Amino acid sequence: MHLPLLLSTPRPSSKRRRAMGSSTPQLLILVVFTIFLSSTPSHNAAHGYSYSNRTTAGECGCADPPAPPPPPPQPSDFLNMRQYQAYLVIQAFKATITCDPNNVTASWVGSRPCNYTGFFCAAPPDATDMPTVASIDFNGFRLCAPSLVGFLDRLPDLALFHANSNNFSGPVPDLTRLPFLYELDLSNNNHSGAFPAAVIPLSNQLVFLDLRFNAFSGAVPGSVFLLDLDVLFLNNNRFGQRLPAELWSSPAAYLTLANNGFTGPIPSSIGNASSVLLEVLLLNNRLTGCLPYEIGLLGNVTVFDAGGNLLTGPIPLSFGCLARLEQLNLAGNLLYGPVPDAVCWLARVGSLANLSLSENFFTSIGHSCWRLLKSGVLDVRRNCIPGFPDQRPVAECLHFFLFPKFCPFLPFVPCVNFPDWPFKRQAAAVANGEAAPPPPKNKYVGYSALRNKPGY
Ligand SMILES: *[C@@H]1O[C@H](CO)[C@@H](O)[C@H](O)[C@H]1NC(C)=O
Ligand SMILES: *[C@@H]1O[C@H](CO)[C@@H](O)[C@H](O)[C@H]1NC(C)=O
Ligand SMILES: *[C@@H]1O[C@H](CO)[C@@H](O)[C@H](O)[C@H]1NC(C)=O
Ligand SMILES: *[C@@H]1O[C@H](CO)[C@@H](O)[C@H](O)[C@H]1NC(C)=O
Ligand SMILES: *[C@@H]1O[C@H](CO)[C@@H](O)[C@H](O)[C@H]1NC(C)=O
Ligand SMILES: *[C@@H]1O[C@H](CO)[C@@H](O)[C@H](O)[C@H]1NC(C)=O
Ligand SMILES: *[C@@H]1O[C@H](CO)[C@@H](O)[C@H](O)[C@H]1NC(C)=O
Ligand SMILES: *[C@@H]1O[C@H](CO)[C@@H](O)[C@H](O)[C@H]1NC(C)=O
Repeated sequence: MHLPLLLSTPRPSSKRRRAMGSSTPQLLILVVFTIFLSSTPSHNAAHGYSYSNRTTAGECGCADPPAPPPPPPQPSDFLNMRQYQAYLVIQAFKATITCDPNNVTASWVGSRPCNYTGFFCAAPPDATDMPTVASIDFNGFRLCAPSLVGFLDRLPDLALFHANSNNFSGPVPDLTRLPFLYELDLSNNNHSGAFPAAVIPLSNQLVFLDLRFNAFSGAVPGSVFLLDLDVLFLNNNRFGQRLPAELWSSPAAYLTLANNGFTGPIPSSIGNASSVLLEVLLLNNRLTGCLPYEIGLLGNVTVFDAGGNLLTGPIPLSFGCLARLEQLNLAGNLLYGPVPDAVCWLARVGSLANLSLSENFFTSIGHSCWRLLKSGVLDVRRNCIPGFPDQRPVAECLHFFLFPKFCPFLPFVPCVNFPDWPFKRQAAAVANGEAAPPPPKNKYVGYSALRNKPGY
């Protein structure tokens, strides 16, 4: 089951109730807009400010003095004080914006901040009669600003901030005083430095954290993986550290750590995440060690991608238990041994549609793998399989096998004794020439995260 992540605009979630009561943000926004449309405020007159056109330009007698700017709105022009406060914060931020190719900030004028492009209002839980800026969606605006400090942290009623594909840099502001924030998307910006640990105090309500495509570096605190997140996208940064053991305590279904500098082995506690994980993207890091057999416990995982690392050892037979697997990429590692028959069998009785094992040191393939080779599901180019085309030079293979190998070969297949192992039924069906496995859905949340556009 995929989450409804395709919405880049405010997205309701079951976990949201803590933040915004039982209503969804969209509903609240609608209600607010309805209030705006039905009330006819007459704030445009008498705000006690008389603009004088007696300027030095006028006094010098120069022809055609420039048209005076409209007077700034006054507190009484606003629907409530929270909107006035938000207005002040937005105007101060607007003054720091150095590029705005879509001219969105042109709409950021006047006393109706709820009407500014990118801003959405709702009534915060603690002031249901004061709709104010509750949600910001700057996705794709390509605004440049040196910092979000003084902006995000001064909009205390904010619940969502989505800013994919802008050019914001500087430190991430201290968001610990935003009691309602539950979605934070800073992806594809220009933030650098250490992991913004300031988001961690939000642990009880943050459900969506997307920091991909920035230049964050250093370690991700283990506590981040204890946050109650549906989605955790950290790919395409410069994080570098051994994968923390807490990693697999994360409740995130989509765990995307690809294209960083993570090191060390895949912690064998991965089995602890068996009920929640749907997609695991570890590709293009510097992971080492043997593949833990506990990966085979991830009975709901559809994508497991650890390509482009330094992983070694045989593929544990337990991988044959990955009943829902659609994509398995282990290409570009230091894996060796036979390609297990049980894994190729997944394409027959399960949903496996892509088994990428190229650029390793495998030496043979299981019986069920031959047909996958023919259909193009299995890629074993650049291995050490005698008699196969496109293999590594013999000298390269010999050199690799000269070094002692430490990874155990574990013949244990954890699922065969499961009473509800789904393959028992399916295997029987295949044997009877019945149901072919359903074609895999070709929509992978994690893989879309490897592109830098919103639209996960
Ligand atoms: C301001 O400008 C208007 C028209 O541009 C002119 O009629 C008026 O006399 C000016 N007032 C002052 C105080 O200069
Ligand atoms: C931006 O929009 C404003 C108001 O719509 C317009 O007056 C201005 O010329 C626009 N600027 C650019 C650079 O397009
Ligand atoms: C919001 O802006 C639109 C056009 O940009 C305008 O028609 C509408 O009157 C504005 N609403 C308010 C409440 O200012
Ligand atoms: C992003 O902003 C930096 C300055 O902060 C600037 O040097 C760079 O050209 C901007 N990049 C784009 C794509 O606008
Ligand atoms: C990030 O900032 C640097 C320098 O400030 C700039 O050269 C680079 O183009 C920026 N990156 C993006 C994606 O805007
Ligand atoms: C994994 O689960 C086991 C028990 O099922 C527990 O003892 C262990 O601490 C867990 N590991 C982590 C890293 O949460
Ligand atoms: C797969 O997900 C279902 C529903 O969330 C859960 O009941 C089941 O235990 C999961 N399977 C495994 C192997 O964890
Ligand atoms: C299979 O997966 C690999 C690695 O992710 C990818 O490069 C390849 O294009 C995929 N093949 C097909 C047919 O989708």
